[in-house]
This record gives sequence, C-alpha cells and structure tokens, in this order.
Amino acid sequence: MPNKNTIQFYVNYHLVELDSQSATKTLLQLLRQDLTLTGTKEGCAEGDCGACTVVVAGINARNTLNYEAVNSCILPISLLDGKQIFTVEYLSERDSASHPVQQAFVKEHASQCGFCTPGFIMSSFALHQKRLHDSQIKDLTSEQVSDIFAGNLCRCTGYGTIISACKNACNTPYSNTVNEAEIIDRLQNLKSESLKAYSNQNSIFIQPHSEEELIEQLSLHPNATIVAGATDIGLWITKQRKQIPALISTKSVESLRKIQFTGNRVKVFAAVTYSEFMEFIADKSDELYQYLLRHSSVQIRNQGTIIGNLGNGSPIGDMAPALIALEAKLTLMSFRGSREIQLQDYFIEYGRQDIQKSEFIQSVEFELPSKSTTFKTYKISKRHQQDISTVAASFLCDVTDGVITKFKAGFGGVAGTPTIATCLEESLVQQPVSASLFSHAANQLTQEFEPLSDHRGSKEYRRQVCRNLLIKFYIEHLKPLEKLKEA
Ligand code: FES
Ligand code: FES
Repeated sequence: MPNKNTIQFYVNYHLVELDSQSATKTLLQLLRQDLTLTGTKEGCAEGDCGACTVVVAGINARNTLNYEAVNSCILPISLLDGKQIFTVEYLSERDSASHPVQQAFVKEHASQCGFCTPGFIMSSFALHQKRLHDSQIKDLTSEQVSDIFAGNLCRCTGYGTIISACKNACNTPYSNTVNEAEIIDRLQNLKSESLKAYSNQNSIFIQPHSEEELIEQLSLHPNATIVAGATDIGLWITKQRKQIPALISTKSVESLRKIQFTGNRVKVFAAVTYSEFMEFIADKSDELYQYLLRHSSVQIRNQGTIIGNLGNGSPIGDMAPALIALEAKLTLMSFRGSREIQLQDYFIEYGRQDIQKSEFIQSVEFELPSKSTTFKTYKISKRHQQDISTVAASFLCDVTDGVITKFKAGFGGVAGTPTIATCLEESLVQQPVSASLFSHAANQLTQEFEPLSDHRGSKEYRRQVCRNLLIKFYIEHLKPLEKLKEA
C-alpha cells in the first residue's frame, strides 16, 4: 500500500514515492537522471521548445482520465502527487510494436535528427487520447494540429510531414492502448484528502486540500511562495538556480479549481488552468478564446493558471490587459479575512503588487461583454504563437446613437506594470464617434505611457504600436457605428 505521507505518482507502470528529494526537482531531472528514461529530451529547459513533453493524466469528474501534454523541464515533481505520467517509453513498453502515433510519424518521414521527435509524439499521443474521449474532436484540420504543436519546435524536418502524421493518427480511429480502468484504480489508491507537508533540509513543500488549510499554512509560513502550475516558478529553478525554501500549492484545493458563471458574470478561481478556462470560454467569447490561442503553448496552458499570470505581476502578462478592460476585480484572502480590489490597482509598480504576507488571490471576477458592446484584444509579438507580447492592448466600448457611453482600455508592455489608460477613457466618453476624435486620442495616447526599450521593441516603437492599435480598433469596429448614425 502506498505511503500517504510521501509524494506519489506513477511513471508509466512504475510507482514513484519520494520522501527525501528536493521539492523543486523537476520531472525532467527525475526522468533522465534518476529513472534513466532518456527518451524525453532537454532542449531549452524553459518551456519553449517542447523536447521534454510528457503526458500527465489525472482522474476527471467523469471518472475517466484527462490527458495533458506538459513541459517536464519546468514541472516540479512535488506538483505531481496522485498523477499518472506517460513518457515516450510507455508507448512501446507493453508490446514491442511501435504505437500507432509512432507508426504514423515513420510512414510520413516526420523526423530527421529526431531530437524533437519524442516531444511531437507525446503531444500527438495526448491529442489522440483526448479524441478517444471527446466525440467533438474529429476531422482535425492542419490548422488545428498546428495549434497543438505551437510549443513543439523542430528545426530540420519541416512541419508539413509532422502535421500530416499527427492528423492521420488522430483522424483514423484505433483502439485505446491505455488500460484506463487499471490506471484509475491505482490512482484512486493514491488519493489523499489530508494536508501533506514534504520537506528536506533545503525546502518544504506543503499541499493543502482546502482553503482553510491553505489560509492556516500561509499564516504559519508567511514568506512561502505560492505555486499553482509553476510555469513561471519553474524558470526560477532551471534558469536562476533559485532555492525556494517554502512552497505552498493551490493545486489540490478543490474549491479553487472551479469557474462560477452567474448571469453574465464569470468568477475564475486560483487553480483554474488556461486550458480549463479556454474550454469554458470557447462558446461564450470567441474574442478571448482566439486571443488565448496565441498565449504560450498547449503544454504551458495545461499547467499555468489565469491567477498565476496575474499574481506574478508581469508587465507583459497577456491576461491582465484583457481583464483590465473588462473591469475585473480580484478577491484576496488570508487569516485576516478577505478583500476585493480592482485588477489594475493590484499592480503598484514593476515587481511590487498589492498583496500582503500570508495573503493569496482567491479569484478574479469579471462580466462578459454583452452583444451590443464592442470588445477587442490585440497582441503584437515577433511570432504569432508561443511568444511574449511586445505590446498587448484590449479595448471595450459601448456606443449609443453614435456617442461613446463607455470606453475601457487595458495595456501590457507599455510600462512597468499592466495598466489602464485613464486619460484615453476620459477623452473618449460622451464624445460622438469620429475619425478626428480617434486621431486626436491616438496622438495623446503616445504621451500616456512611459514604455521601456528592450530587445522586443524600442520605447518609440511601442508608443507607435499603441497609437496604431487604437486607430485600427476605430476603423474596424467603431467607424461602422458612426456611419449608421449618419445614415
Ligand atoms: Fe524545452 Fe522543456 S526542454 S520546453
Ligand atoms: Fe530534428 Fe526535429 S527532427 S529538430
């Protein structure tokens, strides 16, 4: 019987129990160095290339397995308690024949040097397993498969053959090679409902199972780092070689894994991943869904959380500009009680946010735009996908009889924090929509921010982009309303 006081998970068919290793050791280190499962490769060690892709499965609400491709290079092993990990070795471990996904890659000549190939195979395997459970996923197009591979880089084969191999494997049904009943059974045996604290001389990792436990642990460890998906913290480990003395995870707190939807209001709790949010929002806001398709990669979205993206205060986090324009507010909690703040007020200055010791962000809440509201999000980056924004801008506008009755704008990449454009809003509200109004406002906007110059873009470039995005928004979405008035 597995010991419930250790971190336990399965790697392929084998139970891994850890009680004396660093909580911040990555899954990739464990696989390659300790378990000698060297099929999984290391490329960038920062979640960008996908060479280290493995699949993590857990039991979902339908009592089946959900399969998620993740980057093992930035995933601390402490976050894997109770999970099943599939590595590329799994695909041939039970019988000697290659897995149908692998066979499709061979047939299409979808590999040359092969370094990236295990990652592509595992991303394809995750998609294939999802397809077995979801009748909506069928007749995949090259574009859809290409989205799946945004986080898998190949420098030599070319994506044409890789995409068609994955498409063929996923569009041609074959039986499930995974014995899910057996895996569910053994994962249920690992299930723990009580708080786990797992430590050695360097670090302590605490895994609460309720908000009460989380609040209590944060009061006992006020300097602890709160972790959910570790897509940012993972880089502190691999790139900055940072020692994190105490980590407290929100991942096992069931009440933080939900999205509430009441009327038109959405409340996203702290442990909801990007992928979960995208599944929820897909039929409610195509604008947000399409915007998020350009955010990082499937592997990162499967791990990273919406609240994590806000919580770390990055000036270029993609979620903040959109949510600022949607007038989102945060709920923060601690043993002192709870409080609410507008999202833009959370960001004080670069590296400083309005959060106190022992506090955590419980949720973010906002209203979906109604049909009569115009809401647009823009991301300017050097690559279409899997890239950090140079500038992100979101605009929300209500127009009645040709007059702007409400205008909200959120920007990222133009200051030390994500920011609201107060002067812009004031100059537009109660004004009739017109080209001259927006031309004047766009010129003023260039003075509202003090952007940084860095390798993504100069200060002048960023200002010009902000200006151009506002003009684009006017021409594409508001100009027709002005014409209607004239007619
Ligand atoms: Fe590049 Fe992990 S090694 S994403
Ligand atoms: Fe060589 Fe992909 S096959 S990098």
